[in-house]
Amino acid sequence: MNYGQVFDEAIGRLHKEGRYRVFIDIMRNKGAYPNARCFHGHNGPKPITVWCSNDYLAMGQHPKVIEAMENALHDVGAGSGGTRNIGGNTHLHVELERELADLHGKEGALLFTSGYVSNDATLSTLAKLLPGCVIFSDELNHASMIAGIRNSGCEKRVFRHNDLEHLEQLLAAEDFDTPKVIAFESVYSMDGDVAPIHAICDLAEKYNALTYIDEVHAVGMYGEHGGGISERDEAAHRIDIIEGTLGKAFGVMGGYIAADTRVIDCIRSYAPGFIFTTSLSPVLVAGVLAAVKHLKSSNEERDAQQAAAALLKEKMRKAGLPVMPSVTHIVPLMIGDPVRAKQISDILLAEYGVYVQPINFPTVPRGTERLRFTPGPAHTAEMMDELVTALVEIWDRMELELRKAA
Ligand SMILES: Cc1ncc(COP(=O)(O)O)c(C=O)c1O
Repeated sequence: MNYGQVFDEAIGRLHKEGRYRVFIDIMRNKGAYPNARCFHGHNGPKPITVWCSNDYLAMGQHPKVIEAMENALHDVGAGSGGTRNIGGNTHLHVELERELADLHGKEGALLFTSGYVSNDATLSTLAKLLPGCVIFSDELNHASMIAGIRNSGCEKRVFRHNDLEHLEQLLAAEDFDTPKVIAFESVYSMDGDVAPIHAICDLAEKYNALTYIDEVHAVGMYGEHGGGISERDEAAHRIDIIEGTLGKAFGVMGGYIAADTRVIDCIRSYAPGFIFTTSLSPVLVAGVLAAVKHLKSSNEERDAQQAAAALLKEKMRKAGLPVMPSVTHIVPLMIGDPVRAKQISDILLAEYGVYVQPINFPTVPRGTERLRFTPGPAHTAEMMDELVTALVEIWDRMELELRKAA
């Protein structure tokens, strides 16, 4: 076996398909976000504007978050020093879990090192605990949910995206007493659409299924206290397990689930992805705690972010750019070709100081490659005008079609 050749061929395939990934080399400027410095391919750092961060509300640089992290670092040091079971269960972890349980109106919560790990560890463990369990999974579910379902080894039924009729058909085909879990997201972050939570819960009740919702792109962002779409739609009490990240709207890092005490106790006790790993640094936990507490009582960031997203969509629409019909804070621009998406992103960065990452397969289906903009409270109308002007110039130069402005 020529190992080197196998790896070369695998990498070659990515280049051929136009989806070889190049990571941009940047430093964000604290206090001046979305401004950042780009180190790649320039003679020294070049100022850029970041348009694709998932630090949706700029909480990663919020003074309360920074202060809490600095204090924790000086108070307790850098790392937790162990797993939750062996030395790594700091009072900050306990306090944050209480805060997150309260955010979602649940009896308990459990922290993980990322949202990915929360999904993988919880879904794989949950289904193993339920003999003969069948998981019903939305076709656009995130890779971490798919990994969790696969790792559970249980039967899986994939329903067409947000398609209630299809979900019902699949549920009805199973024995009423078969344990079932419906796994879905609230905000689908590549298209910006939202799941019909109440209708899914109606089906779960009718067919005796548990519900598992990934609110990664919604926690902190929707609902009066940042409890996500399930809070906004007054559906949290109908969902059995709510999963979220601490790395996007809460601006730091980590993941969690919130559920009733028995579920939390089971996952805490049986999930290898929770048990056999060093717990989150107390510095990170302190930062998240400050962010969650702040966003529970402040709507300022959420409102400003929604206004920024609406304004950018409007400006793009008026300019005739192919903005997709998102009903959330996500602003996706359809390109439909991986090479072209990368080309546009490269020109934006090199010539206009605009950083937006092209989104390719496998993150989105082939042929739906796009640029995904996430304007936040700190993106001004002037920045948006500059961005739209740049895009229109590139569209002209590449002889791409602009829609008739509405
Ligand atoms: C829907 C969804 N779930 C889970 C995750 C994983 O969360 P984290 O980044 O905290 O690992 C992501 C992306 O990062 C996501 O988009």
